[in-house]
Amino acid sequence: MKTIDKSKPVLVTGATGYVAGWLIKKLLEDGLTVHAAVRNPDNQAKLKHLNEIASNSTGSIKYFKSDLLKEGSYKEAMTGCELVYHTASPFTSNFKDPQKELIDPALNGTANVLNSVNEVESVKRVVVTSSCAAIYSDAVDCANGPNGMLTEEMWNTTASLDYQPYSYSKTLAEKKAWEMEKAQSRWDLVTINPSFVMGPMLNPTETTSESFSVLKQVGDGTMKMGVPLMGVGVVDVRDVADAHYQAGFNPKASGRYITSGHNSNFLEMATSLEPKFGDKFPIPKRALPKWLLMIVGPFVNKTFTREFIRKNLNVEWKADNSKVKNELGISFLPLQKTMEDGFQVLVDNGVLKAK
Ligand SMILES: NC(=O)c1ccc[n+]([C@@H]2O[C@H](COP(=O)([O-])OP(=O)(O)OC[C@H]3O[C@@H](n4cnc5c(N)ncnc54)[C@H](OP(=O)(O)O)[C@@H]3O)[C@@H](O)[C@H]2O)c1
Repeated sequence: MKTIDKSKPVLVTGATGYVAGWLIKKLLEDGLTVHAAVRNPDNQAKLKHLNEIASNSTGSIKYFKSDLLKEGSYKEAMTGCELVYHTASPFTSNFKDPQKELIDPALNGTANVLNSVNEVESVKRVVVTSSCAAIYSDAVDCANGPNGMLTEEMWNTTASLDYQPYSYSKTLAEKKAWEMEKAQSRWDLVTINPSFVMGPMLNPTETTSESFSVLKQVGDGTMKMGVPLMGVGVVDVRDVADAHYQAGFNPKASGRYITSGHNSNFLEMATSLEPKFGDKFPIPKRALPKWLLMIVGPFVNKTFTREFIRKNLNVEWKADNSKVKNELGISFLPLQKTMEDGFQVLVDNGVLKAK
């Protein structure tokens, strides 16, 4: 059991990120000192939201220049910390070279951060932002779990450099983290494994998270003909931040935590926006037919290969979220609120414009 001293600084890697922003907000509002590791501390546009939160809170934030691909570059930011949150990892479907753009930063970056953890004596606990992508590749995989649900005991065994490389990157990175934790006894590891994260962005004009890209496409007309009826888990970014917070400070937290609020699908996510935004934005109303997706899918999106469509279209997605609820006390916001709050932020910031 690890108790974390809140008077010590807490490191957050990937501090500019969508998920990290809400975690940092929670830490700052709790009066903590955050060591924010970012690639470019001079990029004021990417740090504006964090500085604003810091100036309205009792906590404080200090920036450190760090890159996942540079060995030892998190060591200075980690010095004096008992708790390390490792959230940094590229989340995009817009890549050319999956090895260089996804696998290397995820896997080598995790090893890099944890090598420094091994050297910095003050660290007691590391929380890694993994993903449900480290548990499954396709919605059909849910059927392999007890009662047709994904559980923390399952691992993704089908992703590869050629098939769903983002999922592969998250699987390799999380496995590496557990391997390195088992090789020592000073620090323990807890992983948060969120499903697809939705909800308000604190930095809507600066993020490149895939969560932003998908939500934007729901409102900008890209998907007005319809969406693929694909099973997916959804979780609110604010609930993901709560889970990270608990994973860090709850002495009893241990192992992996599936952090998913809703067993859903892309059509349900989109249509939940219809009542509030349907008259002003081209919200998709129907499911795209399978035959059409089979023909055009591979041309419009790298992920939509025929194999992917076969294994995900019209397949229910189910995960068991009881561990995070029971052990970390997490409850989940309603799907409609998550979708509406996220969409509203894009409208308020001019990312989406009414027709
Ligand atoms: N969003 C989801 O649906 C979801 C679901 C499950 C798990 N996750 C995980 O949550 C974490 C955060 O994702 P997100 O959605 O918040 O995406 P995001 O906004 O794109 O954040 C990614 C962060 O990683 C940093 N990063 C990327 N490459 C880096 C490198 N080479 N060196 C240092 N930092 C680097 C980015 O820094 P820059 O600002 O400098 O680019 C950014 O801060 C990731 O680990 C992701 O796999 C996300």
